[in-house]
Amino acid sequence: MSGGASQKFETALRRQLATRTLGRPLYFYASVDSTNVQAARLAREGAEDGTTVVADTQTGGKGRLGRRWVSPPGMNLYLSTLLRPSKPAVDAPQLGLLAAVGVARTIAALTRLVPVIKWPNDVLVSGKKVCGVLTELQADGQNLRSVVVGIGVNLNAPRSAFPEELHNTAGSLLLARGRPVDRAEFTVCLLTHLEKLYVMWLEEGFRDVATAWEAFAAPLLHKPITISGARGNLSGTALGLDHDGVLLLETRPGRPPQRVLAGDVSVVDGYG
Ligand code: BTN
Repeated sequence: MSGGASQKFETALRRQLATRTLGRPLYFYASVDSTNVQAARLAREGAEDGTTVVADTQTGGKGRLGRRWVSPPGMNLYLSTLLRPSKPAVDAPQLGLLAAVGVARTIAALTRLVPVIKWPNDVLVSGKKVCGVLTELQADGQNLRSVVVGIGVNLNAPRSAFPEELHNTAGSLLLARGRPVDRAEFTVCLLTHLEKLYVMWLEEGFRDVATAWEAFAAPLLHKPITISGARGNLSGTALGLDHDGVLLLETRPGRPPQRVLAGDVSVVDGYG
């Protein structure tokens, strides 16, 4: 059954795609270890900016901070795009923030749901995570050689598709709206938004991406949060993004905010 769904998804995706660079070329796998792993391999082989890998299912889907990404067949989107911007390596995290904006815009365009971005690149709907982004880079000294932006979106996953331990935190668009999303339509819309954002970022810099990110993150800004990272926990309120995409966290009122590069946010009073 999933073979048919996979083939239908690929055919519709190839037919509908109208982007100029993102998704050109497009590699589609019925099953693969991880689209990020394949995109990184293609990068080593010299693949061009915009090369994109999509899979119907992943056997080793990778999440942030060494976690796994649950990737059942026939229902969700697993996509990695290879980008080769002429930018310094320190700018790479901006592409993860940009990807979250692209996903949030796509959800807003195709459904009546209200997406919220949780720093850095999670997209939540009704308080549950429906999308995660994993950005992996290769650099030549200070400069980027390539960036793989891996995006997983839980589109049509029923509750039973998630392991028990994720039931409180993970969701899908199907669970939030009660009817399925067309995977090809979602993917085409997403690549179109990502392409526009990427061109804007290349030509004009990060500022407008940051503004869009902050608009989607607004419900979670200025609220008490805890960020757990490699060096322990930090509590405070998120004020927004610094000029380069780093999170500004006010840990003591009246004091200059701290710049936070990485970590996992939990919102003290919940996501309501
Ligand atoms: C996160 O932990 O929030 C990030 C999850 C990223 C998952 C996507 S699915 C497509 C791509 N391939 C992977 O192995 N991971 C990313």
